[in-house]
Amino acid sequence: MSERTLAIIKPDAVAKHVIGDIIQRYEGAGLNPIAMKMVRLSKKSAEGFYAVHSERPFFNDLTTYMASGSVVLLVLEGENAIAKNRDLMGATDPKKADTGTIRAAHGASIEANAVHGSDAIETANFEIGYFFPEFE
Ligand code: CMP
Repeated sequence: MSERTLAIIKPDAVAKHVIGDIIQRYEGAGLNPIAMKMVRLSKKSAEGFYAVHSERPFFNDLTTYMASGSVVLLVLEGENAIAKNRDLMGATDPKKADTGTIRAAHGASIEANAVHGSDAIETANFEIGYFFPEFE
């Protein structure tokens, strides 16, 4: 089934100059970018995006981190895009991510883990609408 998912290339990956490598991995896997923008998130915007994690102990650090530098926001479209992107990314903690995944290649820590990807259809709909309201 063709799906859409929201991907974020995080500040650590932007600073490491691997935007191109990461987008090449998406395209190579049949995840086609249909919307993309580079922005510097405000703390408030990061907090709204990660609201589902607001009670977690890492929420403040995570949202401060996400507002610390430019990010690239993408809507990716393709067959089973949500699961496919999660396979491409690897485990949240780069130390546990399989070889060949984006986080194994570029992630530095559980916080600076290079990329974000939606984890389910409902979250993808929320996340796409959050950053690309024209897609709602
Ligand atoms: P992401 O896929 O963007 O979704 C939430 C983020 O919280 C996650 O990737 C991690 O970068 C970050 N995070 C920081 N600490 C933790 C933790 N202990 N468990 C899960 N996620 C964490």
